[in-house]
Amino acid sequence: MLPRLPVCILVSLPVLLVQGDASASSKKKSPPVPASPPPPPPVGDPSWSLGLRLYRALRSESSSVNPVFSPLLVASSLEALGGGSSGTTASQLRDLLTTPSSAKAGASTAEPLSGALKSLTNANGSSFHLHASSALFSKQAPPVSQAFAKESQAKFRLEHRSLGKGDSKADLKQLHGWARAGLGGLDGAPLPAEIQAKAGALIVANALRFKGLWQREFSEESTDQRTFLGKKYTKVTMMHRAVTSSWNGFNPTLSSLGQVCIGTLKTWKIWCKILEVPLWAGKASVVLLLPFHVESLARLEKLLTVELLSKWLEKASVMSVTISLPKANITSTLSLQKELSALGLTDAWDQKVADFSGVSDKSKGKLHLGGVLQWASLELAGEAGKGEENLEEEDVGKPKLFYADHPFIIFVRDNATGALLLMGALDHAEGEALHDEL
Ligand SMILES: *[C@@H]1O[C@H](CO)[C@@H](O)[C@H](O)[C@H]1NC(C)=O
Ligand SMILES: *[C@@H]1O[C@H](CO)[C@@H](O)[C@H](O)[C@H]1NC(C)=O
Ligand SMILES: *[C@@H]1O[C@H](CO)[C@@H](O)[C@H](O)[C@H]1NC(C)=O
Repeated sequence: MLPRLPVCILVSLPVLLVQGDASASSKKKSPPVPASPPPPPPVGDPSWSLGLRLYRALRSESSSVNPVFSPLLVASSLEALGGGSSGTTASQLRDLLTTPSSAKAGASTAEPLSGALKSLTNANGSSFHLHASSALFSKQAPPVSQAFAKESQAKFRLEHRSLGKGDSKADLKQLHGWARAGLGGLDGAPLPAEIQAKAGALIVANALRFKGLWQREFSEESTDQRTFLGKKYTKVTMMHRAVTSSWNGFNPTLSSLGQVCIGTLKTWKIWCKILEVPLWAGKASVVLLLPFHVESLARLEKLLTVELLSKWLEKASVMSVTISLPKANITSTLSLQKELSALGLTDAWDQKVADFSGVSDKSKGKLHLGGVLQWASLELAGEAGKGEENLEEEDVGKPKLFYADHPFIIFVRDNATGALLLMGALDHAEGEALHDEL
């Protein structure tokens, strides 16, 4: 049996201004039904911790538009690489992934990452369609240690590949070809910067293509043409759906998956809504963050930390919602060297100081990190999962609106482990351009 589709609302989350909200007290009580426990919170998870910091570093560039990447794939590939390094190279890699709580507990970050990768495979085909690949390319490098190759493949799905003897153009062609296959045949955007792999360069590459399957479809009949108020105003196809929940049979505890959570968050700086929508079979969910007013995401992003987001998600409670989302694809190709360096990964790039002695015992003065590349694509479409749908037609009552006609941030989290599979933003939706005064 599949979980019902309950709906929950996060009411006025006071981050600094503490105040109650009328709708909190009017929350209806439902008969006690065992609610599935919520996924582990973002705080303490290495993929969230790295993901949010990387995202903020990316967004400090004004040129960043519609970024999307997989924190889980970057984190697990860097974890694998950390296993092949020593000295400050290793400690800087470790620092990227360590969270305050894992540091305190002295816990390894390898197990949660490796576990999350397994969990994804399990959810693939039911909660979403996913293509995901990770590779470590090496350029004219000394032979890679068998033990390292085996461990990184088995635990972190990081396969080793050699770049050919050709020039940087040939390398680029090889990388793009690999990414295309990793994206299930989709052509990624060109890399934003040239890749100049010197002899001894190691290049981490991740490719991920994701399409979530909803618990109920957004039907064709309920789509129409509307305006998306992004960087440019464009005409797009919007899909609408009432997320109906008969309160009946739903235990309105906080934001466990299998719930839709919408919230109005009030901080001293910004109002925004947070909505968590479970995907088919509840093995993953989509979390959307939408500023209350039409504006760019800049103000929201300045506030966004993993601690804050955890708090917001925790406060989420239940309510009926109508959701309107643009049909869109968010696709990006990123080179993360600058961002990772800004987060403290400095030694790995330098041939003279990098220490990848676990990758190869002949690495000295040669092996170094030459790039960390991401190809990712997220499709927002209306489809639901296939199979027995045990959802009743319900009376929605007075639903709250979640009308995403302006830029929002999107996350996909794995239910079983809580890991952050994907994170991105829709700043601009493709469509016929409209004039601002409309
Ligand atoms: C997900 O399933 C599809 C179809 O079975 C398969 O092609 C793809 O490789 C799977 N993805 C992952 C990451 O296992
Ligand atoms: C979601 O995760 C929770 C906690 O790990 C688990 O108890 C529950 O069964 C999961 N739900 C699904 C549908 O996998
Ligand atoms: C997104 O991409 C998919 C597959 O490439 C395509 O079928 C779909 O029409 C695209 N959606 C939009 C809104 O462009």
